[in-house]
Amino acid sequence: MEENNYWVEFWKTNQVIYRESAHEKVGRTIKGVPIRDEDWRIVLQDLEASMELNSEDDVLDVAAGSGVISVPFSKKARSVTAVDISPPLLAEIDKIGGVETILADAREIEFEEGRFSKIVLYFALQHFSEKETVLLFGKMWRWLKPGGILYIGDIPDAARKFSFFNTADRQAAYFRSIRDDSPIIGYWFTRDFMEKLGSYTGFSSCSSLDQPSEYINAHYRFDAKFVK
Ligand SMILES: C[S@@+](CC[C@H](N)C(=O)[O-])C[C@H]1O[C@@H](n2cnc3c(N)ncnc32)[C@H](O)[C@@H]1O
Repeated sequence: MEENNYWVEFWKTNQVIYRESAHEKVGRTIKGVPIRDEDWRIVLQDLEASMELNSEDDVLDVAAGSGVISVPFSKKARSVTAVDISPPLLAEIDKIGGVETILADAREIEFEEGRFSKIVLYFALQHFSEKETVLLFGKMWRWLKPGGILYIGDIPDAARKFSFFNTADRQAAYFRSIRDDSPIIGYWFTRDFMEKLGSYTGFSSCSSLDQPSEYINAHYRFDAKFVK
């Protein structure tokens, strides 16, 4: 497979990972200011409800970053496993503990069939090409128990790309980024692509979901939920 390692290099070397707070380290900021704790708490509560998180769950957090989902989930689930390619980000999770961290590329790692009851991949699908996403879906489907839930959060919406690149300056930066092979967000997906990929992979229920309008990225990202 032709490997695209632009984002792997980015998340190992970009200075963003050494910023102050867990959210800043993964770029969850608005005009440079990290999301407020109370706003993130609402996202987490919604995510727990959508994923029907419970004390019997073995959760896999793919591209877990600094652990802003893994760590709180570990207090509610039986186990949480966090996979990421960035050593400094995983070290943030290890400082707190309670989560099994695995330094690995999600495109390469394998787990046994049915190992997890829930899988979350949040604010990270933009780093996977369409081909990598198709392959990853096949693997995540196998890793889930029957009835298990896969939740993909914060997917860049191809239909609303220019709600993000919404000024002449931002559009200029966007087109320069294409010209210079230095992507700004990464890959963009349509809601149809996600739903149809879910069905193709074998999920029995596949829905793309609007984010509540108060979410910081609701104007250009959506979520998707799949049940095995
Ligand atoms: C924007 S951050 C989101 C982190 C976390 N999911 C969150 O919501 O806070 C994207 C993460 O994807 C990780 N990542 C990118 N490509 C990856 C890959 N191929 N395998 C594993 N992790 C990857 C990066 O290291 C980074 O931590």
